[in-house]
Amino acid sequence: MVVRRIGLLTSGGDCPGLNAVIRAVIKTAVNEHSIEVVGIEDGYEGLILRRTRKLGLEDASGILTIGGTILGTSNRANPFGYPTERDGEVVFKDRSDEVVSYIGELGLDALVCVGGDGTLTIAHRLFREKGIPVVGVPKTIDNDLYGTDQTFGFDSALSTATEAVDKLHTTAQSHHRVMVIEVMGRNAGWLALGAGLAGGGDVILIPEVPFRVEAVCEVVEERVRRGKRFSIVVVSEGAYPQGGEPFVRRRVADSMESARLGGVGEWVGQEVERLTGMETRVTTLGHLQRGGTPTPFDRILATRFGREAVKLIASGNFDRMAALHGTEITSVPLDEVAGRQRRVPLDSHWIACARSLGVGLGE
Ligand code: F6P
Repeated sequence: MVVRRIGLLTSGGDCPGLNAVIRAVIKTAVNEHSIEVVGIEDGYEGLILRRTRKLGLEDASGILTIGGTILGTSNRANPFGYPTERDGEVVFKDRSDEVVSYIGELGLDALVCVGGDGTLTIAHRLFREKGIPVVGVPKTIDNDLYGTDQTFGFDSALSTATEAVDKLHTTAQSHHRVMVIEVMGRNAGWLALGAGLAGGGDVILIPEVPFRVEAVCEVVEERVRRGKRFSIVVVSEGAYPQGGEPFVRRRVADSMESARLGGVGEWVGQEVERLTGMETRVTTLGHLQRGGTPTPFDRILATRFGREAVKLIASGNFDRMAALHGTEITSVPLDEVAGRQRRVPLDSHWIACARSLGVGLGE
């Protein structure tokens, strides 16, 4: 099959490095394969609501270092269940056949779908159920995608979270306070663990290790006994107490995720202050972690992934996701990725390091 024109979309939560992928896809497609690229706006929504534009080399210019995505994104637009209001209620409509027609009208021979688990699961369904040739590129600041050692976006978010921990350190020290910082990470604790290790956190709470708040207090009090009158507690938004559940800020009906998490940091802060009597402050880093310029690591990883996606398409290898294994770029079947998560293994080296250094994990 000769590929002449491909569609490119970015879907799900944004992250630094999306534009670097877009740039790499355009440049590799045009320069090396004479393939035209059509940009699809706002993820799958552009395929549903017919919003696309041609992307040429001029569009790839000047975007490498810019955060976000020039194509826009959405985490609500699922062609197999598009939220639609009917009689004041949200119902989910299957619009996948309309999407297939539009792809035909646009003359797209394949689609590059850049996103996380939700995006790639939809891409896989488009291939399996509708016969659309797709290739995926793994993105998320959470780093929780199965099948790749790392997603792009994670390194940039980690750098932001680490800088925040560093800044909290000095003010914690000056005021002799406990500083709790809640970072993102719905199902996996990579960001909290990474920022905690890199920033020298005293306690790190992640979804993979349900915690006891008493264990957090023990670390804080032990530090006081050793003359350290401040502590830094890094909490993943998906962390939860033993016997409890993740803290839901809001249930959502119209998103690829069923709930927005948040609030565990506040709760941990209140409990630590109540149980230890130490003055405690809480910072929730939120979407700051999703913005800003990508780190050099992410720019390179995103570039390598974007190039690989085009190479997969040019060689007729569909229903696969570009992946990083060790230091090599390779690809894995989307079937292996869809619906699975790469959580922090309890026997991982990062956890072993935390334990060896005496960091509390709330156990
Ligand atoms: O999956 C990436 C992520 O940033 C999570 O860490 C977070 O829970 C979620 O997206 C927030 O998404 P939204 O853009 O809907 O606020």
